[in-house]
Amino acid sequence: MKIRLESGQIIAAETKESIYHAFKDNGIYLVSSCGGKGVCGKCRVRVLEGKSRIESTGKLRKDDIDSGIVLACQAFPEEDLLVEIPEESRLLIGDKIAVSKSRDFLDILIADGQGLLPIVRHVDLELPPPSLMDNMSDLERLKRALDGKGIQLRHFSYDFIASLAKALRSADWKVSLAYTENFEAVSLSPAEGRNKFGIAVDIGTTTIVLYLVNHSDGSLVDVGKTYNSQMRFGDDVITRIIHATEGGGLNELRMAVINDINDLLQPLVEKYEIKKEDVDSAVISGNTTMLHLFWGLDPSSIREEPYIPTLNTFPEWNAGKARIRINPQAPVYTAPCVGSYVGGDIVTGVLASRMHMNPEVALFMDIGTNGEIVIGNNEWLITAACSAGPCFEGSGIRFGMRATEGAIESVKIDPSSFVAELGVIGNTSPVGICGSGMIDAISELFFSGIIDQKGKFISGLETDRINIRDEGPEFVFHRGEFREIVLTEVDIENILRAKAAIYAGVTLLLKEVGLTLDIVDRVYIAGGFGNYLDINKSIMIGMLPDLPIEKFSFIGNTSIAGAYLCLLSEKMRKDAEEIANRMTYIELSVSRGFMDEYMSALFLPHTNLDLFPSVKALYIKGR
Ligand code: FES
Repeated sequence: MKIRLESGQIIAAETKESIYHAFKDNGIYLVSSCGGKGVCGKCRVRVLEGKSRIESTGKLRKDDIDSGIVLACQAFPEEDLLVEIPEESRLLIGDKIAVSKSRDFLDILIADGQGLLPIVRHVDLELPPPSLMDNMSDLERLKRALDGKGIQLRHFSYDFIASLAKALRSADWKVSLAYTENFEAVSLSPAEGRNKFGIAVDIGTTTIVLYLVNHSDGSLVDVGKTYNSQMRFGDDVITRIIHATEGGGLNELRMAVINDINDLLQPLVEKYEIKKEDVDSAVISGNTTMLHLFWGLDPSSIREEPYIPTLNTFPEWNAGKARIRINPQAPVYTAPCVGSYVGGDIVTGVLASRMHMNPEVALFMDIGTNGEIVIGNNEWLITAACSAGPCFEGSGIRFGMRATEGAIESVKIDPSSFVAELGVIGNTSPVGICGSGMIDAISELFFSGIIDQKGKFISGLETDRINIRDEGPEFVFHRGEFREIVLTEVDIENILRAKAAIYAGVTLLLKEVGLTLDIVDRVYIAGGFGNYLDINKSIMIGMLPDLPIEKFSFIGNTSIAGAYLCLLSEKMRKDAEEIANRMTYIELSVSRGFMDEYMSALFLPHTNLDLFPSVKALYIKGR
């Protein structure tokens, strides 16, 4: 049996296999927030010809079904099919993505009085060749030369020793030795004065960023970025943990991320004509689940109460075992985690923000696929993950999508005509709405009097912009030739839940230390999404606290910035470990006060308007 695509591509299919799986087997990936479970409604395709058995229509509407739309994961071909993949259903992995602006983090090392002290150090050695008169072994000869430089190595691995005889002779006894901060020999190469490099990698749930760094001066040679191919198995960490427990799933997830890292690296080393053996160290940052998957560790206990990871502090590994295609002896340092839902990305984020060094109290928020919060200063640090869920990345929202071309990123609604003016990424026709667009939309719907404080549509409004469906009302942002882009009441509910979880996380953490918001001097917004966030509108919907705008700053992808600092400085690696140890982790899901805070924050902007004085003023003025 065959499935023919509109593009002309033909793929083999079987009746027992869904269209979604047949596509996946052939390298065609659909947006699949739920990983093929029939729940998210994202894997929509249109069957133009042929019959298929439908197990479930999930969230599809009657007009969708009438036009031939099926959920690919719930449709099983019964004969040859002709299928169309709508633009919004295509998963573009490897697509161009924006990397958040990073401050010049090298300045931090210099300002801290830090010299470069990378994980791997290098020393040039010239050994006298052996003779009948000087017949000590190769290893003793190497140690003697190192003694002469005041360096005493403690460990020589089997692989190092196995390659020693050849390496010394082929370099004519003039070698560059790489060794770790723990005084373990890494590798020998000819002393040709070649530059040595390292990589810092941030494994995000959605995106992977790789920095290629020159060890000699700490300069950033280039940046590679891609979507995390694990998205083929689901959008969020929970779906991926479930996939990891299904036969072969763990290895699939591990190899997806390893291949992404290798695929990012390959064009960079080719472009700069760098030999792979000259890339001899790596730092990996990411959330706890991503780091477990990178290590090939079963992450299942992360999602089950009492939410315990296998490791928070990872031992040193080498690139050969990790299967990263650089010098196989290169040490791989993994950023330390705090707990199951506050990982190495937050530890390196705090490190890059420097909030752990300053007496002023800062609030650090990473709003990405999930929401992690840290509050504290140079004396204390307290943290929590607030299970906001990946709705700002598009999951659980009917037309939700990531911030790529075609996403509505800003919205302005005329309060008299209710016509929406849209800003669309790439200035094209909209195909969906991304996180910043959702925040704008909720704020505009509320202040235009279309929805009330609970996010419910106000009845009796005279406009054709509101559709009334069986599932409830929805606001039409865009009317296209074939379909409308809408935000439904259920979508609004989901967004309010996410924003409430974030705000409740902040207020609860402050309560834990007996403080209130006015103690916060600075708010750092980290994460790729942060760059596109409208602070004012985020305050208006009650997601961010109502603090003066000048207290907020966007600090971009701090996970990669912190990984870069760790790659270059022993002091930074020690600081990261100290931050992880110092942070008090609060498990919000079992906190008694969290539910109360959360319920109050489900309103626009909050049940207690006095907590949002600037919004209250606007609200009263508009009424
Ligand atoms: S409904 Fe098919 S992947 Fe989620």
